[in-house]
Amino acid sequence: MNDLDTDLPKGIALTVLDERYRSNPYIILDRIRRATPLHHDDELNQHIATHHDDVKSILRDKDVWSDPRKGKQGSFIYELLGGANDEEPSMLLMDEPNHKRLRSLVSKPFMPSAVEKWRPRTRQVVTRILDGINESEFDLIKDFANTIPTVVIAELLGIDASHHDNFKIWSDQSVKTAFSPFPDPNDLKVAEIAQQKLDDFFLKEIEVRRKNLGDDLLSELIRAEEEGDKLSQAELVLQCNLMLIAGNVTTTDLIGNGIKALLDNPQQLQLLKDDPSLIKNAVEEMLRFDSPVLNSARIPNRDMDVQGCPIGTGESLIVSLASANRDPNVYPDPDTFDIKREDTHHQSFGGGRHICLGAHLARLEAQEAILAIITRYPDIKHSQKGFVRATVPSFRGMESFWVTT
Ligand code: HEM
Repeated sequence: MNDLDTDLPKGIALTVLDERYRSNPYIILDRIRRATPLHHDDELNQHIATHHDDVKSILRDKDVWSDPRKGKQGSFIYELLGGANDEEPSMLLMDEPNHKRLRSLVSKPFMPSAVEKWRPRTRQVVTRILDGINESEFDLIKDFANTIPTVVIAELLGIDASHHDNFKIWSDQSVKTAFSPFPDPNDLKVAEIAQQKLDDFFLKEIEVRRKNLGDDLLSELIRAEEEGDKLSQAELVLQCNLMLIAGNVTTTDLIGNGIKALLDNPQQLQLLKDDPSLIKNAVEEMLRFDSPVLNSARIPNRDMDVQGCPIGTGESLIVSLASANRDPNVYPDPDTFDIKREDTHHQSFGGGRHICLGAHLARLEAQEAILAIITRYPDIKHSQKGFVRATVPSFRGMESFWVTT
């Protein structure tokens, strides 16, 4: 397919490593969405779907693959996510029947009713972190949003508080290069060491827990059994890693982007202060308006097409969640942040078999964190020190975000 607009951005210009995309991906995605149903980026060898209905149906297609080893050599997903590797990948990149087996073993503790039980503990974590902030001007990412998801998941896994800081460092180092098409060699080395430390750490925790099972999430995963089947040691370690890495940067970014959207739109902030029961809808709108995960990916298991644009078996099909969420064919005034929007459905947690396992936990953390901050600091606003956008490919968030209270 030849794009109508022949000069559409490609390669690095479609990642947060590029200043323009980092500061506002929506202008670029809008241009692509208008120009073509399927954008072919021949620099990185990927096809990018940007229209809401295409993104939605590709994510829910039961036959397409996620395992990079099934991709064509040289295609984006194959090269980025280890198509040449021998080892079984984590659940995110696994196909049937292994994916179904693993997902059914680990999914119970992530069901909405199970997650809801963790609300009081999450509230305590948020209060404790807020109690530690002594200045009237602070960095909302470093001092608040960064800490919440790591501490919550670590507490849920039953990990001692003395390890929480290491946990955060290792998980950030590991995710920094995970989806980067242009990784810095030094960052890659650091990520490898961090991954090894996380693996060793989880192995030790599993050993301790096996001797003395408790009511924490790690014990639940060790106990998990479906039709006589159990998680192996290696699967337990991979699962712990995935939860930490998939849930960390993402939830921090949701809290940061969400609070920024409120401070950028003071009338919306006022609405929420006046009626805190709007928080659930507000968080869904935050997810739609400024999605923490920009893209997901699939590999066609057959020659297929997207609105008549052909794409071959094994090629890389990237779905732009951020673009789908701003498609004017689906959302009236898509660029307006409206916490009372009636239809806030979004693609930010992906969809189909691989839909985010931690979605309910992420929602709960964001609801608690955002309500707590605007309640404790009713006069919170942007500080003159501003904010700096993060440069972790595939994610949209901030490295720092200064506020005054
Ligand atoms: C705002 C926060 C979060 C966002 C935006 C997010 C987004 C996503 C997305 C887009 C996917 C891929 C879905 C697909 O391709 O269809 C995913 C998968 C996943 N997420 Fe999340 N996530 C968040 C938080 C979490 C948390 C807190 C956890 C766990 C503690 C988690 C665990 C997972 C896992 C295990 C998968 C793989 C599921 C599978 O392949 O079956 N995520 N997430």
